[in-house]
Amino acid sequence: MATTLAFDVYGTLIDTHGVSLALQGMVGTRAAEFSRHWRDKQLEYSFRRGLMQHYASFATCTRDALEYTCESLGLPLDVEQRQLLLDAYRTLPAFDDVKRGLENSRAAGFRMFAFSNGAADAVDTLLETAGIRGFFDDVVSCDEVKSFKPNPGVYAHFLRRAATPGASAWLVSSNPFDVIGAMSAGMRAAWVRRSPQAVFDPWGIAPSVTVAELTTLAAAIGVAD
Ligand code: 2OP
Repeated sequence: MATTLAFDVYGTLIDTHGVSLALQGMVGTRAAEFSRHWRDKQLEYSFRRGLMQHYASFATCTRDALEYTCESLGLPLDVEQRQLLLDAYRTLPAFDDVKRGLENSRAAGFRMFAFSNGAADAVDTLLETAGIRGFFDDVVSCDEVKSFKPNPGVYAHFLRRAATPGASAWLVSSNPFDVIGAMSAGMRAAWVRRSPQAVFDPWGIAPSVTVAELTTLAAAIGVAD
């Protein structure tokens, strides 16, 4: 069977800081700081809900994290502004390298899935809006098992849904916690190091390959496979 790739969505294919433009009109020079806090808190809420087995959708984590960020940074946004940001979050842009990277991976003959904490309909909308839905055989969502990455159960769910053994499947992610989670669950993983400042967690588990952008992914996996 052809090698299977599971592409993480938020932060890997889709730029979560794409809300920065909308944020600039609301919080001015603090837009980047706001966006970073929002994203960090969103992930923290998903980790905590996963550990507590107190599931709510990733969209709820995103909304709650937005409330928290406004409060903690002392930047109160009104109801319309918050709704505008949440709407923008449903149609974020893809990173510049993504289309060409996905084309290369398709041409190399990989089976390709989107694999995300986001609910399937939200991920479908994102990928459609970014013009990249057609590259994927299917969307697999952690929402289907009511948990979040890096619970080992969500990676097992992916392997079941994609009908592949872990040894033939790669996670592709810019999120180190996701790379370590997938490798701990028996997959191989490519870390997309989207910035030279990005640091990988020093846990003694190295990514199977590291790429700076998706355009070089297919070649890197081909060599490692
Ligand atoms: C995703 O699952 C972790 O946000 C990341 O799409």
